[in-house]
Amino acid sequence: MGRLNRQLDPTQTGFEAEKLEVDLHKRIVGQDEAIEQIINIYQTYLAGMASAGRPIGNFLFLGPTGSGKTRLVEATSESLVGDARAVIKIDCAEFQHSHEIAKLIGSPPGYLGHRETHPLLSQEVLNQYHTEKMKLSFVLFDEIEKASDALWNLLLGILDKATLTLGDNRRVDFSRAMIFMTSNLGAAEMSSILRPSVGFAAGETERQHAAGVVDEELSDKIARAGQEAARRKFAPEFMNRIDKTVVFKPLGEPELRKILGLELNIVQQRIFSSASGAPFVFSLTEPAKDYLLRMGTDMKYGARHLKRAIDRNLVHPLSNLIATDQVRGGDLIRVDFDGSVERLTFFKEAEDMPAYAMVQMVDTSIAPPLGTFSAGAVAETPRAANARGQRR
Ligand SMILES: Nc1ncnc2c1ncn2[C@@H]1O[C@H](COP(=O)(O)OP(=O)(O)OP(=O)(O)O)[C@@H](O)[C@H]1O
Ligand SMILES: [Mg+2]
Repeated sequence: MGRLNRQLDPTQTGFEAEKLEVDLHKRIVGQDEAIEQIINIYQTYLAGMASAGRPIGNFLFLGPTGSGKTRLVEATSESLVGDARAVIKIDCAEFQHSHEIAKLIGSPPGYLGHRETHPLLSQEVLNQYHTEKMKLSFVLFDEIEKASDALWNLLLGILDKATLTLGDNRRVDFSRAMIFMTSNLGAAEMSSILRPSVGFAAGETERQHAAGVVDEELSDKIARAGQEAARRKFAPEFMNRIDKTVVFKPLGEPELRKILGLELNIVQQRIFSSASGAPFVFSLTEPAKDYLLRMGTDMKYGARHLKRAIDRNLVHPLSNLIATDQVRGGDLIRVDFDGSVERLTFFKEAEDMPAYAMVQMVDTSIAPPLGTFSAGAVAETPRAANARGQRR
């Protein structure tokens, strides 16, 4: 054994953590700090260095509505266990009274209806998406500032000891869970930093933000406002149990535009993997994208309503076109915007495109949730798929 003095690089991440990082950056626009914190904690867990008897990580996500807090949790779950549905979501506002708490933990034996209650937070629910290789759970407590005292007590136990005692005294182990808590606390202060209503800065800051120029100083100010709001509202014994508090940044126009691109891609992937097996390709002109952006995003609600705008203006009309056989497998559909009627318009630009040509036209780098993308659906020629559709 010789003596060495080789310098090591502790900033490198292992292969698995790196894969998670790449996946998250593909799915989430901006919010780099939040992604970094998840990677750090995951890496610590993989290396076996996480503290025993605690959840893998306790995260508090603050920041404006529609900035990706929930989406990031779903994306983590998609990347690690292949399904966004693995996230157990608890909307704290729904559990104000003791009978509602019983929905979470079940009622004690002997209570009326004891046998019928299936606690939302049982071990079975937690382990639902575990596989031989990956035994991770994701629990998301939304709007924790609205939690009742009873719920707070449950939450403190989970954060500190990774255990929850159910109504019938069974214990639930959270030591393989990542716990995420979200709150819009401080969002008002943050938006007033971005939108000063008086003085020289009024209007200018907002214009800069809209153009995507949220400078470092402003970001720091926003982050501080969030952290301070959390410290004012939450008891120290709670804040002490949090591993990482991350303040999500408000999204500007360039980010929202990128998110639109991601969401459109998800719709396209859905078409490729749909049960009808007659895939086609659509593409939006810039005015059509601008219209969806206007309808689905704004500075106040971030990307909150984007999906709904896409569903209403794009997915529903496309579904009608498919149902009436106006759009068929192998088609290339151009989606434009008609300002005179304030509506998206649809044109068939090509038909009978071979599957490989269609695949080449779309960005398949963002893998859809595992199992939904069937390669068979695009390997088949459109004619065959249409014929198959007609035989049904
Ligand atoms: N940073 C982002 N990257 C990618 N998609 C995003 C991002 N932010 C928002 N979105 C899109 O907007 C939708 C709404 O965002 P999300 O549900 O994550 O908001 P939130 O921050 O949890 O808001 P709230 O505080 O109201 O719960 C997401 O489903 C996603 O489609
Ligand atoms: Mg949310």
